Amino acid sequence: MKTKNEIIKTLVTKRCGVIKPDSIEEFIGAGGYQAVVKAFSMQPEQIIGEVKASNLKGRGGAGFPTGIKMDAVLKAEGSPKYIICNADEGEPGNFKDKYLMENDPHQLLEGMIICAYAVGASHGYIYIRGEYGDSMTALEKAIADAKANGWLGANIKGSGFSFDVMVHSGAGSYVCGEEFALIESLEGKPGRPRNKPPYPTTAGFRDKPTMISNVETFSNIGIIVNGGGEAFKAIGTETSAGTRLISLSGNVKNPGVYEVPFGVTLADIVYGLGEGAPDGQKIKMVQLGGASGPIIPPELLDIRLDYKDLADEGISIGSGAVIVIDERFGMMEILERIMKFFCRESCGKCTPCREGNRQILNILNKFIACKASEEDIKNLTSICNVMCLTSFCGLGQAAPTAVLTTLKYFGGEYTGRLAAKS
Ligand SMILES: Cc1cc2nc3c(=O)[nH]c(=O)nc-3n(C[C@H](O)[C@H](O)[C@H](O)COP(=O)(O)O)c2cc1C
Ligand code: SF4
Repeated sequence: MKTKNEIIKTLVTKRCGVIKPDSIEEFIGAGGYQAVVKAFSMQPEQIIGEVKASNLKGRGGAGFPTGIKMDAVLKAEGSPKYIICNADEGEPGNFKDKYLMENDPHQLLEGMIICAYAVGASHGYIYIRGEYGDSMTALEKAIADAKANGWLGANIKGSGFSFDVMVHSGAGSYVCGEEFALIESLEGKPGRPRNKPPYPTTAGFRDKPTMISNVETFSNIGIIVNGGGEAFKAIGTETSAGTRLISLSGNVKNPGVYEVPFGVTLADIVYGLGEGAPDGQKIKMVQLGGASGPIIPPELLDIRLDYKDLADEGISIGSGAVIVIDERFGMMEILERIMKFFCRESCGKCTPCREGNRQILNILNKFIACKASEEDIKNLTSICNVMCLTSFCGLGQAAPTAVLTTLKYFGGEYTGRLAAKS
């Protein structure tokens, strides 16, 4: 077993706990905003070239290449252009964006300023989860200090480039983390997803070209500009560059936020960093990514944290949550809680998600009451598949993931709860 020091690698968290997050002087003293100065000496295409070379993929869940997104916004027709930071972090089990915003808020601003310069945006918004009062306070102070010191506002540091950022509070809806629902909410409308295409890169906020990315994604941009794309790409594996922030929670001795390079195994995270289950318990299952992610058995923990390795097994780690569940907890009861969450959070716009989540919950309740039949297993599988294929947005497409993966890996839990045949 590797030691904690061998597993952890600090890039985006290198200043966390080292500098005072509310001190712009300490941020600058620790190398902060140097990347903005360097970026202003480069052409927008050069910056985007470095981000493309870095192989940085979005940390909000879907893993879309950030350089390609920036290129699309740069090339899109329309003005003004916008930068939006998705800090909604509504997925249960995720708390790493909160950690970054409260421990190094200027690093996020630095990334947003560079991206704004590169894509030609003049306005930025940070859409923060409504419950994150401390994150809002940290960012509002950072924005005020950045403005007072000439890092935000008109003609930043005499560069001729102007950019401003505002904080906007969400109001507790999970679907508002979905990029178009977030944009609708920011425009003052009910937060509901829009049809795609067109994508936000060409018709986003107020129908103008918009770069919308996650907190952790923006926080990596200054590192890439400072060190170069190739150096960033050298960290991690051939197919996954850089580090990931992991929100480790549930039945582990050491829960918390950890930064690890791609390539460590899930076991390194759960046993090496989390030190396994408490009270001498055995781990029963691990959910990756949050409520919308797969549930896997401990035997699969040898898989590496790598987009390709995880995809080869048909799973992903989404926005980086690792939720550990030990043998004291019943799988059906956990699934029931997950599906109740999705019933509550479905926006109701499309039938597969609005009705499918309820149907799944009804069937799960039959298993919990040991009144289910073989037919219910077939129905459950078919409803899940229809939802994945036909739901309008990612919420309904991913809501059945926990059920589908438990059907695959923990089939005995279902058959063990069938109604006794007399
Ligand atoms: C239901 C739902 C909720 C989401 N919640 C978030 C969220 O809280 N934060 C986030 O960054 N992305 C979230 N996303 C993903 C966003 O739609 C989008 O892909 C992401 O902000 C893009 O940033 P990235 O390229 O940096 O990953 C969510 C997607 C869905 C379908
Ligand atoms: S999938 Fe769910 S959340 Fe998304 S649009 Fe349909 S009902 Fe709304």
